[in-house]
Amino acid sequence: MRGPDAGEYVVRFSFWARFQHASVILLFGVLLLTGMPQKWPYVEASRWVIEHLGGVVAVRWLHRAAGIAFSLLLVAHLAVAIGGALAGRTKPSMLLSVKDFRDAVDFLRYCLGWAEAPPRFGRYDYRQKFEYWGLVFGGVVMALTGFVLFFPITVSRLLPAELIPAAKVMHSYEALLAFLIILVWHLFAVLLSPEVFPLDTSIFTGKIRKDRLRHEHPLEYDELSGRE
Ligand code: HEM
Repeated sequence: MRGPDAGEYVVRFSFWARFQHASVILLFGVLLLTGMPQKWPYVEASRWVIEHLGGVVAVRWLHRAAGIAFSLLLVAHLAVAIGGALAGRTKPSMLLSVKDFRDAVDFLRYCLGWAEAPPRFGRYDYRQKFEYWGLVFGGVVMALTGFVLFFPITVSRLLPAELIPAAKVMHSYEALLAFLIILVWHLFAVLLSPEVFPLDTSIFTGKIRKDRLRHEHPLEYDELSGRE
């Protein structure tokens, strides 16, 4: 993939994007560490975590504090993204379009050897967009069900009480699903994928090599270099 642009970098992520990503790593890590031992309290590793974090009361409060921070970050993210797009300051480049679904099919055809070349992606490819929307919708589900579990008595005064065990099942299984998706899908894409191995550093440094941009996001590369 080395070409004329190798060694040159362009800015890909703002400070706000990098800050949010680092915060999600930290908060999601704390939420998993304090949530999973509550889901499987009799597993040896759960007991070890609970004991080393100061007991189950401390673990539950740590989880709720991280949950509040996570929910605030989600609200701030949506406010900045929607506000920025409405005011014309930023492009809503994560929005899904028909092209993304076509790209998913075309990429599979390319992998099977049925197409000569892969589809040309823009700023975000269909995998990145699907993962982003999974995180947003999953985050909304976790925040809503988390607050139902946080305030069960208040919720049961306003809404049917059956909502509380239902929220617990949703919260518990969505947490497991989110963990598995991050482990298998996200960590493969950013650590093990041959194109970025051993680590895609762009979301930490904010910069991406030009030759990578041209290879992975050719439509954005063309747009940036004025070749539309
Ligand atoms: C998105 C990341 C999150 C993950 C991975 C996660 C994970 C978990 C897990 C695995 C459980 C145990 C469920 C069970 O017993 O089966 C749990 C319980 C709980 N979670 Fe979360 N959670 C997340 C976000 C939140 C948020 C945003 C809140 C909101 C404050 C929250 C509040 C709670 C509460 C109140 C409980 C019940 C246990 C308690 O009373 O402390 N969680 N969570």
